Amino acid sequence: MAPSARTTSVARSTVPAVRSAKVNRGDAPLVMVTAYDAPGARIASEAGVDMILVGDSVAMVVLGYDDTLQVTVDDLAHHVGAVARAKPDALIVGDLPWLSYHVSSEDTVRNAARLILAGAQCVKLEGGRKRVPMIEALVDAEIPVMGHLGLTPQSVHAMGGFRVQAKESEAALQLVADAKALQHAGCFAIVLEGVPDEVARMVTDALDVPTIGIGAGRHCDGQVLVFHDVLGLEDRIVPKFVRRYASLKEDAVAAVGAFASDVRSGAFPSDDESYHLNAEQAEALSLYGAEA
Ligand code: KIV
Repeated sequence: MAPSARTTSVARSTVPAVRSAKVNRGDAPLVMVTAYDAPGARIASEAGVDMILVGDSVAMVVLGYDDTLQVTVDDLAHHVGAVARAKPDALIVGDLPWLSYHVSSEDTVRNAARLILAGAQCVKLEGGRKRVPMIEALVDAEIPVMGHLGLTPQSVHAMGGFRVQAKESEAALQLVADAKALQHAGCFAIVLEGVPDEVARMVTDALDVPTIGIGAGRHCDGQVLVFHDVLGLEDRIVPKFVRRYASLKEDAVAAVGAFASDVRSGAFPSDDESYHLNAEQAEALSLYGAEA
């Protein structure tokens, strides 16, 4: 029998609420979307998502880089702050950028604290068992941690490109072991990116904490997509796992084009869209020879 989905009206925007959400225990799947600024956060919040990820994908979808390696803790803190100032009704997850959690536990805690002070309620980091000491240090500092396994974009060079991971049985078993290690270290949820549906299902079944998939099939405890992909603001690459719910890039080009054409034809601004002097001031100006 299909599990009955619990209503999403239950407040789910806290770490404990997310940690306990498992589809196989009857919970509705978790919904996470990225956002990088206040308007994006307001849209995500009004749409009723459970979590907003201020992802390092900001590098590629907003800042124009070819990969996520170029952004810094300063960049992420700047974007987390913008999202937090919108006061969204969703858990704010701050993404730790590359090299902000690789050097030492102390460095990791200080960098994560920057995102928390900017308004995130938890942080996300990429990688398996080798991240356990950093995760334990963060949890010890009361900073909740979301893991991220599979296609981890910060490993783009090590992976030889953005490639689906864990396609061989041995690698799949390693992924399950990594996920268990992350859960044991204290992660409250784990993003699974770019892995076969069957592997994501194995990981999901092996964990008590929820998995949140992106390009990881239907068996995760939740799904995440990038804001610009959902809205069709990014139309250069459409990965297989993206479903577009709008074509805002097309609409935006048409709208800005209409504005340009109205300006060039003189149709904008109209009289109604202009400010005017009152009759007395217009008359005073005309005395000086100026036409109001
Ligand atoms: O930065 C990001 O957008 C992410 C998602 C792809 C999970 O990490």
